[in-house]
Amino acid sequence: MATKSDKPVTGNLAAEAAASNRFVAWIDERFPLTELWEEHVSKYYAPKNFNFWYFFGSLALLVLVIQIVSGIFLTMNYKPAGDLAFDSVEYIMRDVEWGWLIRYIHSTGASAFFVVVYLHMFRGLLYGSYQTPRELVWIFGMLIYLVLMAEAFMGYLLPWGQMSYWGAQVIINLFGAIPFVGEELAIWIRGDYNVSEVTLNRFFALHVIALPLVLVFLVIFHIMALHQVGSNNPDGVEIKKQKDENGIPLDGIPFHPYYTVKDIVGAVVFLIFFSAVIFFAPDFFGLFLEAPNFEPANPLVTPEHIAPVWYFTPFYAILRAVPSMAGSAFPGVAAMGLAIFLLFLLPWIDRGKVRSIRYRGLGYKIALMLFAVSFVVLGYLGIQQPTPVKTLIARICTIYYFGYFVFLWAYTAFGWEKTKPVPERVTK
Ligand code: HEM
Repeated sequence: MATKSDKPVTGNLAAEAAASNRFVAWIDERFPLTELWEEHVSKYYAPKNFNFWYFFGSLALLVLVIQIVSGIFLTMNYKPAGDLAFDSVEYIMRDVEWGWLIRYIHSTGASAFFVVVYLHMFRGLLYGSYQTPRELVWIFGMLIYLVLMAEAFMGYLLPWGQMSYWGAQVIINLFGAIPFVGEELAIWIRGDYNVSEVTLNRFFALHVIALPLVLVFLVIFHIMALHQVGSNNPDGVEIKKQKDENGIPLDGIPFHPYYTVKDIVGAVVFLIFFSAVIFFAPDFFGLFLEAPNFEPANPLVTPEHIAPVWYFTPFYAILRAVPSMAGSAFPGVAAMGLAIFLLFLLPWIDRGKVRSIRYRGLGYKIALMLFAVSFVVLGYLGIQQPTPVKTLIARICTIYYFGYFVFLWAYTAFGWEKTKPVPERVTK
């Protein structure tokens, strides 16, 4: 009997290749498949010196897919009604086949999304990736960040536990602190005078379809904007300035196969950590799933301590650190809004002539590290019950958070920064 290995391999492969070429040609006549593949993958020349920090863009993409797919399966059994929502989540956890796994993938995925996105944003700060000509890449990124926060906030209401309910109540009430329009705005968001089933229904619609759709489009625009100008790199050198006779950047390598393979390694390592959390610590010690959320929402009983999930707590700590004025929380709400808005303006606040931290002045290096530390400390304080000492530390960190932007502007606009010479070509 002839086995597969007895067959003339070359003839077979040649026939298969010809068939697949004909198939691709058939598609290419009707849809620019090869053109898109070449432009964005196989002939997209990325700097050859990408390091660890460059894993997080592709990982964010991976988590986005994980969230959409696991979310679709959760929606098959979830019921967005006040008297059914909590029980439907319990039903998913106990009775739906693999339901516990799907739910833990989704709840862990939400936190993983923010871990990956915060590291991805920090890379932008390290290497000045928001500077000219990548301002729009940054702006699309910041819009993604805003929509992601809205998406996570609305998703958290859906299990209809105590923290879902009271967290939403507190955060939506913050909008009420905005002068003149606040009260009306809060009612408009809730669709009711209190968080109720009406709120649950609209948050479900927004969380399941509207915001994911916006997110996907923003990610497409983010990557299109990046590919229009080309990637930055750890040296902050513009690789398009040095090209060979074929117009290919001397320091560029095709994204595929080089970075597809590298990113797969990153994805495998990420998935090991991701699985470890899902299987061994799915609530992550109360950080990813908070204890009061294992009790059904009860509008008559306020939990002792209401705190948002960890990824919101730096901003929550800023809110609490700013004293209220005439009984209104507006100053804190405004500070929280400003803390996010300033990040949008970063490309224009930083007038530095050099991109990468490798060649920037000592003042920048110290200021950025302290900025990262104060953000983490604020995040920690936002989870804790306030005490006089903690409030004092939160105030110092809040002042530093805003001071960083003022310092950065002055340091770069007045020419105080002493930079190192940037090499012509990428180094390592
Ligand atoms: C769903 C969320 C996001 C996804 C899927 C995503 C995806 C990507 C991908 C695939 C890249 C190219 C690979 C890389 O450089 O790592 C990239 C680059 C970039 N992203 Fe994002 N991103 C997201 C969120 C953000 C956010 C929130 C920001 C900042 C506010 C941001 C800022 C940037 C910048 C500045 C670059 C260019 C980096 C460089 O060339 O050095 N991204 N993003």
